[in-house]
Amino acid sequence: MPFAAESVDFADPEVIALPQPVLDALRDRQPFHWNPSLKGWFATRFEDVRQVLGSPDFSVEKFGPALDRTSGEGRARLEALAKVLGDWIVFMDPPGHTRLRRAMRTGFMPRDMDALTPKVHARVDQLLAPLEGTSRVELKDAFANPLPAMVISDLFGIPEDDIPELKIWADQLGKFVLGGRQTPDRKRRAFEAVQDFTAYLDGLVESHRSNPRPDLTQHLIDHDEDGDRLSHEEIVHSILLCVWAGYETTANLIANGVMALARNPVQAEALARDPSGIPDAVEEFLRFEGAAQTLVRIAKTDTEVAGQPVAKNEKVFVSLFAANHDPDRFELPGRLDTMRQRNRHMGFGHGIHLCLGAPLARLEGRAAFEGLLKRFEGFRIVEEPAWRDELMTRTAAALHLEWRPRR
Ligand code: HEM
Repeated sequence: MPFAAESVDFADPEVIALPQPVLDALRDRQPFHWNPSLKGWFATRFEDVRQVLGSPDFSVEKFGPALDRTSGEGRARLEALAKVLGDWIVFMDPPGHTRLRRAMRTGFMPRDMDALTPKVHARVDQLLAPLEGTSRVELKDAFANPLPAMVISDLFGIPEDDIPELKIWADQLGKFVLGGRQTPDRKRRAFEAVQDFTAYLDGLVESHRSNPRPDLTQHLIDHDEDGDRLSHEEIVHSILLCVWAGYETTANLIANGVMALARNPVQAEALARDPSGIPDAVEEFLRFEGAAQTLVRIAKTDTEVAGQPVAKNEKVFVSLFAANHDPDRFELPGRLDTMRQRNRHMGFGHGIHLCLGAPLARLEGRAAFEGLLKRFEGFRIVEEPAWRDELMTRTAAALHLEWRPRR
């Protein structure tokens, strides 16, 4: 059958439900193509994705060009959003990125993760204990969403009672940042969410200034590198980034991983019998159906990818999902193999923007699967999940499961 890469529409519900066949076909036939519906290039080969993410020829600063294209009331809102999101390291090129990432990095070191481990396990127990008598569950609401929200709040000293409101703001913001095409007024909603979210975090930072506590909010306030300190806005906006980035991605790691296990019950049982395999299994979940599906870069200069000229200011979308299923890189990539070795996937990206929270996400993922497999067995998906129309992430709206308490 003829295949025209140019006509692939990533908003097509069939592609959203099952992206892999389309991404495989693209990688085989036109691994780097201009996609009219995205108005940008689309890369699917592991090596090309790695080249783009590792190259100084590409920028993550996308708000300047977006503002140039926007006018009227929309522009004022976008300007306000850009003021906040422009302080996020994920949308910042060096040298600003280097300075701010250095300040944020200290809270995510191995020793910080060691100190956090018992708290994460306690949160897993707190959420799973009440589910022990159940045989049916909506896993996202009951476990996958609240766990990362609680952990990230613990890290930054955010009171548990405030989490529900934060989650609403984070969702609204996500629909803007991740391109939720089904939400027509997403810019307005994101604008309002950012106003409320930053006002809340202003209060959090102020209360830490008057009453210092040992957490990451305090760490950002106290950061001082040879007299270089972070401004109040940089602190607030960086906490906002971490709360947002650390929440839904990790929830998807848990939900997508449980789905993979439900479809591979023999591997689920093997893991339950030998939990020492869980760290490798988490890496495989990140490769197999990773939470981050696509990233975008903007060419800073005329350059070349896969032998194709890319002009200055053109967008390049890189598919982490396709790269993580590239047969030139992974043996039998379409097969879940929780014991896969040397699994150097790109689920956390690559290059200078490699996920800052990866050690935390790994810690949460491992604790979550340990807790789940210790308590439950016979995972069965009772309703095919509806995937959200978001090119950037792989998010099921809900995960309805049946399971049995493990005896
Ligand atoms: C399974 C969970 C997670 C996945 C799959 C994930 C994925 C990613 C990816 C792919 C990037 C690179 C973005 C780019 O290059 O444009 C990234 C960056 C980032 N992530 Fe994560 N993430 C996860 C969890 C977390 C957590 C728990 C935090 C908590 C703080 C976090 C904080 C960040 C930050 C701050 C950046 C920006 C780093 C930079 O630009 O230097 N992430 N993440």
